[in-house]
Amino acid sequence: MTVLEILTIPDERLKQPSAPVESFDDELRAFIADLEETRRAGPGAVGIAAPQVGRFQCILILDVSKTKKPVPNHGHLVLVNPEISHWEGYEIGREGCLSVPDYTGNVIRATRIRLKAQDPFGNPLEYAMEGFEARAAQHELDHLDGLLFIDRVVSRRTDLFRRKVYQK
Ligand code: NI
Repeated sequence: MTVLEILTIPDERLKQPSAPVESFDDELRAFIADLEETRRAGPGAVGIAAPQVGRFQCILILDVSKTKKPVPNHGHLVLVNPEISHWEGYEIGREGCLSVPDYTGNVIRATRIRLKAQDPFGNPLEYAMEGFEARAAQHELDHLDGLLFIDRVVSRRTDLFRRKVYQK
């Protein structure tokens, strides 16, 4: 497996929308293994999306189970062609991103979502998510539309915070 290079701002490729996956083959699964290796090599990342390593396909990995936040979650998830079918509530919360290494920011997200996706073999998946897992999923799905959390902060003056150290 390979640790892939992560694109960081201001790389324009991060704005490129991703295309759906159509071939659920060994090459896809090998890429997903590399993407996971890359996520784990990063500093405390709860999620990673394929376009962050320059592959513009709708693939993401999410795992909020290792964080300190005591919230319900589904553990380690590989989501291919994810789509949110339902949003409910909203709350503000702090986010960070491997592609924005120097900042965190306050972003408004839905509190609860329903999400449909496929696994790496093309089988259908469906989850109800809430809290931090729902937030992380919305953040990762944004990457597939070429959006970063810094595009969603209410005010760059008051809602962006410079990191001292990328914390685990
Ligand atoms: Ni991100």
